[in-house]
Amino acid sequence: MNFFLETIKVLLLSIWYNVESFIYFFVPKKKKNIAGEVVLITGAGSGIGRLMAQEFAAYSTVLVLWDINQEGMKETARLAKSNGASRVHYYICDCSDKNEVYRVADQVKREVGDVSILVNNAGIVTGKKFMDAPDSLIEKTMDVNIMAHFWTYKAFLPAMIANNHGHLVSIASSAGLIGVNGLADYCASKFAAVGFAESVGLELLATGKDGVKTTIVCPYFINTGMFDGCQTKWPKLLPILNPDYVAKKIIHAVLTDQVYLLLPRSMYLIAGLKNVLNMKQAIVLGQYLGAFNLMDTFRGRSRKQE
Ligand SMILES: NC(=O)c1ccc[n+]([C@@H]2O[C@H](COP(=O)([O-])OP(=O)(O)OC[C@H]3O[C@@H](n4cnc5c(N)ncnc54)[C@H](O)[C@@H]3O)[C@@H](O)[C@H]2O)c1
Repeated sequence: MNFFLETIKVLLLSIWYNVESFIYFFVPKKKKNIAGEVVLITGAGSGIGRLMAQEFAAYSTVLVLWDINQEGMKETARLAKSNGASRVHYYICDCSDKNEVYRVADQVKREVGDVSILVNNAGIVTGKKFMDAPDSLIEKTMDVNIMAHFWTYKAFLPAMIANNHGHLVSIASSAGLIGVNGLADYCASKFAAVGFAESVGLELLATGKDGVKTTIVCPYFINTGMFDGCQTKWPKLLPILNPDYVAKKIIHAVLTDQVYLLLPRSMYLIAGLKNVLNMKQAIVLGQYLGAFNLMDTFRGRSRKQE
């Protein structure tokens, strides 16, 4: 093909995809059937991990829960069963430990079968200014928030590729799109999570494995306790999100094969602006949105998560 023809093709397809998006704004997308799928959720012992388990349960899926919090998982398992899950299995797994991830993944494959929907959700936050954060907490943040994604993909993606069927869900953060004062290690881990999921998603497309879908979730603060104490400057524009709402939106994104889910909606505009504004404008906008002081009142959870 020559330059002219390829350019025309790209322009026409761009117009068509915009028309398609416009239509989908009014016409709901068809939802896929996930009954019987094996859904593994890391960090399922509390927060949105638990709520996603309950939501997936309502679609008659087989649930596999991972967490370091056994009591939390037991409660999630109970709720998921009463919500309609066809089976629920739970395993203690410290996702910050590669060998443990591989060991428990093998156990899951033996005892439950191949995982077809993998939700990398487990996450921690240090909540300290970079120079005040102990090395051990920085390493732990990277191990849980991103390295675990590498190891779970290595463990479960081969079966999805072989079947050309599956879904990889990355619970990242809006802090994976925009840097935040006071969240350097967390932002680094979440930027990595976005880049990793995006790149493997493209790798799959390039090799023709279009049956393995990717969903990358980038929410602003959610009222789960993880960021307790943090306040939002303009709650109408950037509200602290309700965990039930977030879990429902994530499941809807999975059912409709939506690749990026940014919450709240204003985040699409803010993330877009960040990439086109000059630096001085971006800083003024960041100050206006309160991004410089988001972590000033951070307390986090009272119990230690590490
Ligand atoms: N809460 C927010 O404001 C917010 C905003 C954006 C993104 N997120 C992301 O959403 C995800 C879920 O967060 P949440 O708000 O439900 O928090 P949460 O603290 O309620 O849940 C996190 C879960 O991960 C588990 N976990 C921690 N370390 C683990 C480890 N080493 N191995 C296995 N499990 C481990 C915890 O026990 C807990 O059950 C996280 O990845 C978080 O970064 C949260």
